[in-house]
This record gives sequence, structure tokens and C-alpha cells, in this order.
Amino acid sequence: MSAIISIRNLSKTFDDGTVALSNVSLDIQKGEILALLGPNGAGKTTFISMVCGLVRATSGVVTVDGHDIGSDFRAARRLIGLVPQEITIEPFEKVIRTTRFSRGLFGKPPNEKHIEQILRSLSLWDKRNSRNVDLSGGMKRRVLIAKALSHEPRILFLDEPTAGVDVSLRKNMWDLVRRLRDDGVTIILTTHYIDEAEEMADRIGIINKGKLQLVEQKDVLMKQLGGKQLNLELKTKLVAVPTELGSYKLNLSEDGMSMVFDYDAQAGRTGITRLLADLAAAGISVRDLDTSQRSLEQIFLTLVEESR
Ligand SMILES: Nc1ncnc2c1ncn2[C@@H]1O[C@H](COP(=O)(O)OP(=O)(O)OP(=O)(O)O)[C@@H](O)[C@H]1O
Ligand SMILES: [Mg+2]
Repeated sequence: MSAIISIRNLSKTFDDGTVALSNVSLDIQKGEILALLGPNGAGKTTFISMVCGLVRATSGVVTVDGHDIGSDFRAARRLIGLVPQEITIEPFEKVIRTTRFSRGLFGKPPNEKHIEQILRSLSLWDKRNSRNVDLSGGMKRRVLIAKALSHEPRILFLDEPTAGVDVSLRKNMWDLVRRLRDDGVTIILTTHYIDEAEEMADRIGIINKGKLQLVEQKDVLMKQLGGKQLNLELKTKLVAVPTELGSYKLNLSEDGMSMVFDYDAQAGRTGITRLLADLAAAGISVRDLDTSQRSLEQIFLTLVEESR
């Protein structure tokens, strides 16, 4: 894979002094789905707006398929479809005309078949003659996606595309995004639904306080950071973890009936056998045990908490 977007040392300080992004460098590979996670105000929208050339960077360089987003804006922008976080559509225009018009803005000749295909894939075809103002919130968001796809972009930015979209339509949207990726479209999305990132992304980036804290292949991330937990259910209530077991860093539940042991499943020795022997020696009987994998959500929360 080769990089379609190259971002070097991108920073943004707003006029009021807010540092929204600091020194972000990243290559986005052709055909990948990159999910950006981060708490509110982390800088995700600012990042997307700068890469799409809508917000001027304080410093740094962005090139899109070799075109500088500043000096060669039109050529770069033509390759990009953007679904903004904020809903901005002409209220009294009809859905189908809104979508057609967007295509025209990029100087593309009319293609009714393409417009129909998009509206159908977003379950909007039946609503094509409705005015935008008469649509539900989730439908309006889908109109934004239709607009972004109208000019057949090679790169698609989705800033929280599924916010306010119901569960079954979210799944449809995921299918649509996957189909686009299969057609070779590069996709960058932000989401607050961690399961969405886990489900969709090839790579996951975590933005926090304007910094790109981490960017990694999803599978690697889940393996590297996803330590496992051994959950021990106890036969009798324990008031405190005995001091001789201090080295294990066991977490006792509030009711004293269970303990959690964090371990690294990749390590040669997990320490489980020794722990069980030491528990028995300390007179603690285990009624049942099971293991669980740390989820991306836990990984995310840990990273964000650590930098507080
Ligand atoms: N035009 C602006 N002027 C001043 N500060 C701004 C402006 N736009 C954004 N900010 C600030 O930049 C920071 C990052 O905002 P941004 O919208 O990029 O966050 P986000 O990660 O998209 O958050 P959310 O998850 O809530 O959408 C915030 O502190 C925000 O208040
Ligand atoms: Mg945002």
C-alpha cells in the first residue's frame, strides 16, 4: 500500500489561543479505513477540517495524492468527500436535488444512475422528493453522506457519521463503507462508538488533547495492549488481599467475593499457575474462574485517563 495522504507536523492554534492540534504527522494509506477516536474537544474535527483544507493550519504540510492542500486546493479537494459533523443542508431543497447539486459543484457531469445508486444504498430513495427539513435527524445525516459521495471521491472523511443513526441503519452504513473500501476508496472516520472502530477499522488512531497519541493496526493494537484478565470467584468473602499476595496486584471486588488478576497472554509465563498455588497456600479457595480479553474500550479509557 502507498500513502494517499501525507501529513507532516500539522498544528493549529486558534485566534483565541486554543491549541487544538499539535505537531501531528501521519501517512494515510490508499484503501485503508482509519478510525479516529478521542474525547470531546480532542481535536478530531479540527484535524479533518485542516486535512480537507477548510481550516488553515498554523504550521505543517498536508498533501493529498501529491497535491498540497493549501496551494493546490482544488485538485486536492476534488478527490475528497467530506461528511461534516454538523448538519449543514439547504432546508427547503429536495433530497435528490441536494445530492445532484453537490456533484455539480465539483464540475462533474450529471449522472442520474450514480445519484440513484447512492440514494438507494443509503435507504433514501423513497425520500428523494422530500424536503430536507422534513427528514428525521438520522435521515439528514444520510443526506450528508449522499452529498459527500455525489462526485465519486477517492477519499472519504466521515466525522461521526453514525451519531443519531439507529442501530439497524448503522449496520447498513457500515456495509456501505465496506463496499466503498472494496472499491478502493480510502476512508477516515471519527466515532464515539468504540465498537464501531473495532468493527470497521484497519487502523485506529487516538487523538487526545490535540496530540495523536497512538496510531496502530487494529489487530496489533488489540494484541499488544489487550492484556488478559483472570477473574477469580471466591468461595468465601475476603476482607482484604493478604500481604503475601501483594506482588500480584490483585483487584478485590467491593463485595469481597471476587478478584481480578491482569496478565500478559503473550508472555512466556503468565504467572497463573504460581498465583493459584499461592492462593491455595494462603487458604483462599476459588469457586470458579474465567478469563477475559481487554476490550478496545478499556484500552482507550486507560490511555485517555493516563494523560489526564
Ligand atoms: N473556531 C474555533 N475557535 C476557537 N477554538 C476552536 C474552534 N474550533 C474548535 N475549537 C477548539 O478546538 C478544540 C478541538 O475541537 P474539535 O472540534 O476539533 O474537537 P473534536 O475532537 O472534534 O470533539 P468532538 O468529539 O466533541 O466533536 C476544542 O477545544 C474546541 O473548543
Ligand atoms: Mg468533532
